[in-house]
Amino acid sequence: MLIKPGEIQKVANMFMNAVHEDEIEIINQLYEALKKNDVEEADKLMDELLVDLEDHFSTEEELMREADFFGYPMHKAEHDNMRRDFKGVYDEWKSSKDTRKVMKFLEEKMVPWLKLHVAQWDSVTAMHIGD
Ligand SMILES: [Fe+2]
Ligand SMILES: [Fe+2]
Repeated sequence: MLIKPGEIQKVANMFMNAVHEDEIEIINQLYEALKKNDVEEADKLMDELLVDLEDHFSTEEELMREADFFGYPMHKAEHDNMRRDFKGVYDEWKSSKDTRKVMKFLEEKMVPWLKLHVAQWDSVTAMHIGD
């Protein structure tokens, strides 16, 4: 398991927590498939993660716009960086099917980013938005 339960901070909005939990599950499943070198399963999960990530980010951005959250441009810029980074890894995966590269990205980039992002941005946003 790449992300253990409780490793991603809970925020003050239950809907955002549910979105995060779904994403953590996909990332963990993807990591297991990569570890087993199950390319077919990993490929399916990469597609799933691409859709899920977009869903996750656009949901939060919509909540922020509705609530007129002051940090919207900065929070969205963080999402855009990860959108771009993940799309790069996704495109590379589609041509190379290099499991090591994706594992490395999850371990060194995406998971640390997610922990920090939730702690720094999602938690503040959730407090502003409320339940
Ligand atoms: Fe989030
Ligand atoms: Fe966010």
